[in-house]
Amino acid sequence: MKRILVLGAGGQIGTELVPHLQNLYGSDNVIAADLKPEVVEKLGRTSRAVMLNALDIESYAKLLKNERIDSIYNLVALLSATGEKNPQLAWNLNMGALLNSLNLAKDFNCAVFTPSSIGAFGENTPHYKTPQDTVMRPNTIYGVCKVSGELLSDYYHTRFGVDARSVRFPGIISNGALPGGGTTDYAVEVFYEVIKHGRYTCEVPKDTYMDMLYMPDALEATTQLMEADPAKLVHRNSFNVTSMSFTPEQLFTEIKKRIPSFTWDYNVDPVKAQISASWPDCLDDSCAREEWGWNPKWGMDQMIDDMLAACKKKVENGEY
Ligand code: SER
Repeated sequence: MKRILVLGAGGQIGTELVPHLQNLYGSDNVIAADLKPEVVEKLGRTSRAVMLNALDIESYAKLLKNERIDSIYNLVALLSATGEKNPQLAWNLNMGALLNSLNLAKDFNCAVFTPSSIGAFGENTPHYKTPQDTVMRPNTIYGVCKVSGELLSDYYHTRFGVDARSVRFPGIISNGALPGGGTTDYAVEVFYEVIKHGRYTCEVPKDTYMDMLYMPDALEATTQLMEADPAKLVHRNSFNVTSMSFTPEQLFTEIKKRIPSFTWDYNVDPVKAQISASWPDCLDDSCAREEWGWNPKWGMDQMIDDMLAACKKKVENGEY
């Protein structure tokens, strides 16, 4: 059985990836690591949890050795909008955690999964049906880290044989932990706000298309790729994956069909406007479909129904 370490386990993806991995590989084989003591304490209620700073390579190495880890899910990241507030920190954290993960994976013979992102693309990228292999000249520090991370991961694979794999996640919509500091966060926030206040003010321009994925599909993408037959992988770092693409206005209009009293307006954040305009409108994810059988299950309608029900429950229970 695999022995797994999830780094940055308290974030939006980690909070749901840990139980998903526990179901697949057994609770004893999954270790959830995070930087913040209060987050580790919370993770510890449902999983084996440890405090770890991924930039502290000695503690990181000790943990891999003591726990005989063979698969690392490196979710440490500062997202796109927050990254622009502190580019130096974004570079140090995003690249530092990845470089340590790759070097230690080389030493301890581990597989590594690190999410890349639609943020890896830029203004010069074809925006419609963005191909797997295309121009990648992002103009955010987040995107620069993601492209560098993809290259570095492929380099460690070809040069040192590290089994590094990743997907380019679009915006991930979920009802576990909230995302933080991303440009696509509006597509999560709106659900809580509509339940709680019946209204929402959006910081992304109304007609900006961005790809999205519902969390169950994001989890499936992650473990499906890590289990894929390496002989079938032409690409590794990193695969386009998507299951829907919409504008804020389209999402809000669909929500209003279900909650007629919902109202919204826009107070556009210039940074988010610039970032979202530079990202693809919709990805072509045919390579993921062909090379490892990517086949998302959740479309926009089902996602909206599920999110509204889940967020209603959370608001009623006082969890939001
Ligand atoms: N959700 C991320 C962001 O908006 C994109 O990968 O920054």
